[in-house]
Amino acid sequence: MTKQHTHGIESTAQFAGHPVHPMLVPFPIVSIVLALVADLAFLGTLDPFWARGAFWLLAVGLITGIAAAVAGLTDFLTIRPVRRVNAAWAHLLGNAGVVGLVIINLLLRWDDPAAGITGGGLVLSIITVLILLVTGWLGGSLVYSYHLGAMDSPSAGEENRPAARTQGGAGDRGSHR
Ligand code: HEM
Repeated sequence: MTKQHTHGIESTAQFAGHPVHPMLVPFPIVSIVLALVADLAFLGTLDPFWARGAFWLLAVGLITGIAAAVAGLTDFLTIRPVRRVNAAWAHLLGNAGVVGLVIINLLLRWDDPAAGITGGGLVLSIITVLILLVTGWLGGSLVYSYHLGAMDSPSAGEENRPAARTQGGAGDRGSHR
């Protein structure tokens, strides 16, 4: 059951009281960024080890990205104020693009991971990481500006009342669904 706290809105996708989406997002972000690093290492060394590594990092990025997206979508679809935030829509579209580009990138490399890098894979990896920079920033805004995914804490008293209450953040917007 979603709750509105004095300091924001509670996530509906949670485990033991902790929002699940922020627990999962580091995995796709790190995997996809390291895949780009491995692409560059391959171009620098021409050692196929790096091409295979980049392939598997993208595969891990895809699987964990889908898991993160399911948790993010759960919050997006079940908490109405989230759907009124433009940054949430941009975050959704950008990350759908990330998942789509990773799938295309993997298909490019499927038969020959090394040839896939020079045949467009590197460009896709660069574009994907640039999009992640923007969507990660937007995700941070959802948490730290709009106070989505809030938790009860003993320190969340009046003296810690956040800016969202005074700046018209999502936390001020009445019922959630
Ligand atoms: C590859 C997929 C995704 C990545 C890497 C990602 C990344 C992030 C990041 C970095 C944050 C900030 C977390 C924090 O600072 O604690 C965030 C928050 C958030 N994201 Fe995503 N995201 C992804 C997919 C999605 C999707 C598909 C949605 C659906 C709209 C979504 C909705 C949200 C929401 C509602 C928040 C606010 C916190 C919460 O409710 O848990 N995300 N995301």
